[in-house]
Amino acid sequence: SRQWRGVLREYADRLNVTDATPVITLGEGGTPLIPAPALSARTGAKVWVKFEGMNPTGSFKDRGMTMAISKAVEAGAKAVICASTGNTSASAAAYAAHAGITAAVLVPEGKIAMGKLSQAVVHNGQLLQVQGNFDDCLDIARDLAANYPVHLVNSVNNDRIEGQKTAAFEVSEVLGDAPDFHFLPVGNAGNYSAYFRGYSEDLERGTTTKLPRMFGFQAAGSAPIVLGHVVKNPETIASAIRIGNPASWELALNAREVSNGYFGAITDERILEAYRILAAEVGIFVEPASAISVAGLLEQADAGNVPAGATVVLTVTGHGLKDPQWALQTADGGTVQPTVVPVDTAEIASVLGLATA
Ligand code: F0G
Repeated sequence: SRQWRGVLREYADRLNVTDATPVITLGEGGTPLIPAPALSARTGAKVWVKFEGMNPTGSFKDRGMTMAISKAVEAGAKAVICASTGNTSASAAAYAAHAGITAAVLVPEGKIAMGKLSQAVVHNGQLLQVQGNFDDCLDIARDLAANYPVHLVNSVNNDRIEGQKTAAFEVSEVLGDAPDFHFLPVGNAGNYSAYFRGYSEDLERGTTTKLPRMFGFQAAGSAPIVLGHVVKNPETIASAIRIGNPASWELALNAREVSNGYFGAITDERILEAYRILAAEVGIFVEPASAISVAGLLEQADAGNVPAGATVVLTVTGHGLKDPQWALQTADGGTVQPTVVPVDTAEIASVLGLATA
């Protein structure tokens, strides 16, 4: 047995890496593809969950960041910059720290989850809270990269998409072919485009026989691709995908077209419902944005759009521990108060409803 070596080494033949590329890795990728019998029972499909929260910084961003930072260092960069709703900044700060370079990160003030903010800070990122939204942050990051000596590591950098396509390779390897459907959250639509690229390359090589239908979901208050226009003031509790002007819009439209895919919008209420189902019935804890994959599947299965027996993969993009506050909220908006008990076995047995043996 051996240790997983990270996506650059595991997929060296499928990425633009050479002997001149320093491999900046934290061992990302190789994440579990988990069967979800509870979701299969609810939908009639064969459902698998690709748990990207198992990456080193707790999100799928690490696959793209190992590539982006390695290529930046290869090109001589001493500093990188990104705009972020939280996960990209956490990942950029960690990989930059590992590489010994500086990461500057621009985040919307007061709008990123505490876990993600903490990660950027502890990894020594230069974190600035911008008094605007994510789209404003991305505009400024692009501006800075165009005019100052700093290397952009948002997914508009193709190295990010390249690294992220490896998740599709992993899925097809485990299943023996591409799935029939792939469901995932959409913010900038970089990951949606990356999976499509990975599946397309597998098909070209002949290691798979089909492209999955790519089903992407945006939060109802932040659904520019579904609406067909930029959303000026995007809103959703799924802060990771609170994005009104997706950077990879064109790539994503092409991927939908070619894969006979779909873009849908899901309300925050449905997102949180799916979040609880995934945690309570499958045992996987994700952040709200990730649960939109589950909500999308439940909606589409209800609508009769997912045939019985179809193989379905859901990508859940970020770990629940990044933004745990939602776990303590009940469906009716109350706050969970764990029961307090005295140091007394009989009393605790009674509270737990255990009968005497
Ligand atoms: N899920 C999570 C947990 C995310 O953090 C993101 C994006 C997405 C889904 C959407 O992926 O943008 O490729 O369509 N987060 C970015 C960030 C914007 O800054 O961390 P996408």
